[in-house]
Amino acid sequence: MPEEMVPVLTRAEIAKKVKSLAQRISEDYAGKELIAVGVLKGAFVFLADLIRELTIPSRVDFVRLASYDSDTISSGTIRMTKDVELDIRGRDVLIVEDIVDSGLTIAYLVKHLKSFSPKSVKVCAFIDKTERRDVQVPIDYVGFVVKHGFLVGYGLDLDEKYRVLPAIYRIIS
Ligand code: IMP
Ligand code: MG
Repeated sequence: MPEEMVPVLTRAEIAKKVKSLAQRISEDYAGKELIAVGVLKGAFVFLADLIRELTIPSRVDFVRLASYDSDTISSGTIRMTKDVELDIRGRDVLIVEDIVDSGLTIAYLVKHLKSFSPKSVKVCAFIDKTERRDVQVPIDYVGFVVKHGFLVGYGLDLDEKYRVLPAIYRIIS
């Protein structure tokens, strides 16, 4: 049975927010070169939009972390199935994530990337979902704060569905 979906963020709201985030990041990293590390798969749409609004030079890399199976609740175990390929030692790294929920994924990734001795590691999350935070992780750049619910679209999936939608919806189950 198809899920019921309620619109949460429109395409226009998303575009406006991405632009203002990119402006802030470009100001904060003025004179520096950024390595944007996207968390696959969810962050690929946000990352693609964000980097094209940046006015500073940047390089792109990806990691792939899995914590959710086909469920909407985190299993609590993080697996890294793809690591960074660029040499991030001494570089300014910005993790680009679609959504922070329990915080486990970001906590794991920050710790992991720091082991390569980068100059700095910051986090940019498109959505900060505050309801179920287990680990307190600093999120330096937040697009939207959404208290609860399971969201899809703009890269976010439910069992690999709905990633391609250009707007954000809440699933009613
Ligand atoms: P965390 O480790 O619990 O913070 O979970 C982060 C990851 O879970 C994100 O990278 C997403 O892939 C996934 N996730 C968390 N909440 C949602 C949601 O509402 N919709 C889709 N994916 C989600
Ligand atoms: Mg996911």
